[in-house]
Amino acid sequence: MTTDFYDELAPFYHLIFEDWERAIERQGEVLAGVLRDAGVGPGDEVLDASCGIGTQTLGLLARGFRVTASDISAGALARLRTELAARGLQTATRLDDLRELRYAADGSLAAVLACDNSIPHLLDDGQILQAFRSCLRCLRPGGIAVFSVRDYARIERRNPDLRPHAVRVEQGARLLAYQLWEWDGDCYDLHMYLTRDPDAGPCETRVFRSRYYAIGIARLLQLLAEAGFAQPRRLDDIYFQPLLTARRPG
Ligand SMILES: C[S@@+](CC[C@H](N)C(=O)[O-])C[C@H]1O[C@@H](n2cnc3c(N)ncnc32)[C@H](O)[C@@H]1O
Repeated sequence: MTTDFYDELAPFYHLIFEDWERAIERQGEVLAGVLRDAGVGPGDEVLDASCGIGTQTLGLLARGFRVTASDISAGALARLRTELAARGLQTATRLDDLRELRYAADGSLAAVLACDNSIPHLLDDGQILQAFRSCLRCLRPGGIAVFSVRDYARIERRNPDLRPHAVRVEQGARLLAYQLWEWDGDCYDLHMYLTRDPDAGPCETRVFRSRYYAIGIARLLQLLAEAGFAQPRRLDDIYFQPLLTARRPG
């Protein structure tokens, strides 16, 4: 379900942002600061393990970091390759699952990232623990893991929850994006509607569906410790979502 969602959404993903290029810039700047503070420099290996179409990968590459990019969505990776070429940037892109990270050698990375609420696509604590253990395995001693997630403790659970999202104008058409969340215990099904209303011709709506586990940040920090990470911590107010960081001991 997650793979189909992001494969289908890949051509439209930038529309989620008011200005995707600015988001790439801003997120790159903040993450570069977090990495530098953790002792990660331009020559060090960084893996963006849920890169999508590249919001964080592109920003960090532009700042001289050596980032490789992986994701479970082949569609998102194909869009990322187009975006890399358009900017004259290069990096390896791999189809890989956060729970396995098959392409990342043990102890090889200075940093691993999974940003913009990728972790809650894993639908139970066991899968999240598996992903955290994979991240830990790939990091060198002292390496840092960086995740950004929604703060579900601040979100009221009501059914149905209609969330107006954005209105954009692109190539002579109004584009309206809105989401419907349907709660089911600690999970919710997300339906993202994208309506394209051109100046001429028929209006059309596409629906993209996915599911999330609304895990709380306190529990994520516990799972990071359980996976073997040191210093799991939450950083608020520097990124558009809370950032969670943790270090491989050593
Ligand atoms: C909200 S998107 C964020 C993408 C990217 N980080 C960005 O901000 O542009 C979440 C991403 O997580 C990826 N993802 C979800 N589950 C994954 C898994 N098990 N392994 C690797 N990537 C996964 C999705 O394919 C999607 O690209």
